[in-house]
Amino acid sequence: MSEATGTVPAARGPRRGEQLEVEIESLAFGGRGLARADGFVVFVSGALPGDRVLVEITKGKKRFAEARTLELLEAAADRLPDRCVHGGEPCPGAPWQGLPYESQLRHKQDQVGEALRRIGALEGFELEEIVPAVEQWRYRNKLEYSFGENDGEVALGFHARGRWDLIVDVEDCRLATEAGNAARNAVRDWARLDAISVYDSRAKEGILRNLVVREGRRTGQIQTRLVTSASRLPRPPVDLHTAIEGDSGNTEGPTGVLGEELLREELSGLKLAMSHGAFFQTNTEMAERLYAVAAEFAGLSGNERVFDLYCGIGTIGLTMAAQAGEVWGLEIVPEAITDAERNAKHNGIENVQFVAANARTGTRDLVEKAGKPDVVVIDPPRAGLSQKIVRRVLECEAKKIVYVSCNPTTLAPNAAQLVEAGYTLKKVKPVDMFPQTPHIECVALFEKSGPGSS
Ligand SMILES: C[S@@+](CC[C@H](N)C(=O)[O-])C[C@H]1O[C@@H](n2cnc3c(N)ncnc32)[C@H](O)[C@@H]1O
Repeated sequence: MSEATGTVPAARGPRRGEQLEVEIESLAFGGRGLARADGFVVFVSGALPGDRVLVEITKGKKRFAEARTLELLEAAADRLPDRCVHGGEPCPGAPWQGLPYESQLRHKQDQVGEALRRIGALEGFELEEIVPAVEQWRYRNKLEYSFGENDGEVALGFHARGRWDLIVDVEDCRLATEAGNAARNAVRDWARLDAISVYDSRAKEGILRNLVVREGRRTGQIQTRLVTSASRLPRPPVDLHTAIEGDSGNTEGPTGVLGEELLREELSGLKLAMSHGAFFQTNTEMAERLYAVAAEFAGLSGNERVFDLYCGIGTIGLTMAAQAGEVWGLEIVPEAITDAERNAKHNGIENVQFVAANARTGTRDLVEKAGKPDVVVIDPPRAGLSQKIVRRVLECEAKKIVYVSCNPTTLAPNAAQLVEAGYTLKKVKPVDMFPQTPHIECVALFEKSGPGSS
């Protein structure tokens, strides 16, 4: 749903701080509920279609307002009870947990089609059925927690809704595995036992800031990364792999590494290792399925030259290498490229090469070095491709472009640009990587139209 809904707004929309009772009609892009107050559109966080809620307006704009839920007055008929709750509040990582899973899938499927049609003005493509998640809970291989203090005791969990200064302690987050939860709780218990202070950003005092827990789902490895304002700490529990960083978490790098630095994971038959600064999909099982869809769309015969732009630690290119002639990966984070090269070597894959570069400036150089590709795979961050990068991709003149997107609202304008330049959007397939959340992943296939195209 776009924010410009075509509805004639009331003379004056609701103002910041006003409280209203509204009924949620549908879900907007990004996952908030959409309601109307006297014809005026209100985007409501913390509510689902069919809910009647008391809301407080947080922003009043000319054409719409934003609000947060204060009280659920009447739940939608199909609303499920929240299963992941911390300190009486629904888990911030699972804002759609009240929606039956079938409805989550339907909304995601519809939103991909709607983004391409309404934002991209595209028609005639095949929207394939969404791939449901293998696990609806306990699927995340990475979670980040913040330290806080509740009644003088160390808390380790998530920010309370709308509060930057209050941390709700987490005992069992149902997005993490039991092992991941146990690791977080062990760090919290250690902090309590050794009376280690929590960092207070106003007073600029204290030590503990954040904790990242990552898991190799297939290897069973747990890696914890503790971000602190100082490196002198009592030794953490020995069975945890812990790296301690300096104040801002990115300036000094690890000052004390007590565990393994690389996280090991297995995916599509590959043995992978990754450093903490490298991107890796947070749902291992579904990443495997996502890459299988990308490979199916690429339709390789064994001879093609494939570019894997935004390649991270090389996952997509490495999983396609056996069906390709040669693969070239390009990625901006040098640490990730080191991981990608190590992963290729470790798995005995010889027809891949990786380049550390910005896609904006590095794609032309890559064409010069490797020659024009037959297939370009693109997997950019949420913001999608800038106009300039779209032009660089077009210069590759690939027969096929496989676009892996984590945001249909940025895929849509990029898709329109590719179509405008002579590609045809053949098909799109959503893949549910993030159950209980509004996040949508999908793969789109573009083929070059015109003379010479098949
Ligand atoms: C969504 S991730 C995909 C990574 C990989 N394809 C995967 O599936 O694990 C996007 C990647 O793009 C990289 N990136 C961001 N901006 C970039 C740019 N301008 N040029 C090249 N890579 C970039 C990020 O570091 C990240 O690794």
